[in-house]
Amino acid sequence: MPDTITITDDRTGKTVTVPITDGVFSSAAIRELDPNLYFYDPAYLSTASCRSEITYLDGDNGVLRYRGYPIEQLAEKSTYLEVAYLLRHGDLPTPAQFETWRNEITHHTFIHENMRKRFVDGFHYDAHPMGMFVSSVAALGTFYDDAKNIKDPQSRHNSFIRLIAKTPTLAAMCYRFSVGLPFNYPDNDLSYPANFLNMMWKVGDYEVDPVLERAMDILFILHADHEQNCGTTAMRVVGSSEADPYSSAAAAASALYGPLHGGANEAVVRMLTDIGSIDNVAEFVESVKRGEGKLMGFGHRVYKNYDPRAAIIKKSAYDVFEVTGKNPLLDIALKLEETALKDPYFVDRRLYPNVDFYSGLIYQAMNFPVEMFTVLFAIPRISGWLAHWEELLLDKEQKISRPRQWYTGPGERDYVDLSAR
Ligand code: SDX
Repeated sequence: MPDTITITDDRTGKTVTVPITDGVFSSAAIRELDPNLYFYDPAYLSTASCRSEITYLDGDNGVLRYRGYPIEQLAEKSTYLEVAYLLRHGDLPTPAQFETWRNEITHHTFIHENMRKRFVDGFHYDAHPMGMFVSSVAALGTFYDDAKNIKDPQSRHNSFIRLIAKTPTLAAMCYRFSVGLPFNYPDNDLSYPANFLNMMWKVGDYEVDPVLERAMDILFILHADHEQNCGTTAMRVVGSSEADPYSSAAAAASALYGPLHGGANEAVVRMLTDIGSIDNVAEFVESVKRGEGKLMGFGHRVYKNYDPRAAIIKKSAYDVFEVTGKNPLLDIALKLEETALKDPYFVDRRLYPNVDFYSGLIYQAMNFPVEMFTVLFAIPRISGWLAHWEELLLDKEQKISRPRQWYTGPGERDYVDLSAR
């Protein structure tokens, strides 16, 4: 059987035969039948928006690979900085390449003093850290006018280095502001995750615990990229207009802020807290089945099996709890997972725990306030967003994103004066 699809326009009898490659075919062929014919695909459920070589997902089998490397191996053997290099360059770095990459990022962790002393002071004392983070990413771009030179490889490299290096500094700044604590400057003698934890928590003789440092690095690796998710799609759409990468990343972070996307880790902990006890789990599950709310941290557009990241995070949680003490919400989460995975409502809809179901328990055990959870998601995701942004700019098939619509509004009608309405 040929790898083709034949579409017939029954109105004219015209047909077009299109090759199928790796499960996709070009929709442009449809306009050979009729130039005014378009696919209607709300939320892009059946649309591939681009070619990409960065991340591969197999939703039915719970597979996630960055540039071909299984996420399980990267979480066990790699570091986030090495993964950020891999996402951008397509291969693991040599020792010399990694040292140059690490050194550049380490020496770009500072932000302009005006960000600390003037910009952040403009926020209300109880501003949500993710709202502050989104604004700070856009504001950061105003310090680097060369960022607009998106066709210049060196300018793009500078943006990669600055955004990867400074997002932990921005995140810690937002947190310290929200609790009225003085800021900690970056410490270039520390590793990437340790520097972030130090900026977050240092008061007096604080020392970063190596177990928490490694757990943070693993969480950064797991959250670095996830192909064409909502936030990355926003990065690509805004980037396709040739906007600078800081403005594009602010748009991506805004999409991530939503509770159906990156905001789910915050929503999961609030949900578990509201459930309050394992005795209430059964009734909560019934309420979800009655349509009274969603089981946050469950379900995924692509994974119709266990999210491989959730399994790794669940394992890492026990390492963290050895240091921090067990998060009391863990028992409720485990009972919720056990109950849902036996219930036809969830099994029939192929709803499994996703990356957000357990991550919040670790963050909470590490004393991060719930409002910081989505910021913690955004820090590493910046490297995925940037990798997709550069791939888009270098893709000869890409141009400014401008989908069509199915117009169902009123036909032409004449204006009626106010006095006659
Ligand atoms: C992330 O895309 C990515 O890759 C995202 C991400 C990444 O790394 O970037 O993986 C990160 O966003 C993870 C997802 C975090 N969000 C949540 O945990 C929020 C809860 N999950 C749902 O809102 C939902 O599952 C989505 C948004 C994640 C996926 O939604 P879809 O693909 O549009 O699926 P759907 O809403 O069409 O659901 C199909 C059915 C529906 O029931 P019916 O109308 O068929 O009866 O499943 C039901 C939904 O009501 N359903 C749920 C549910 N998720 C879907 N019912 C209860 N609880 C849920 N969580």
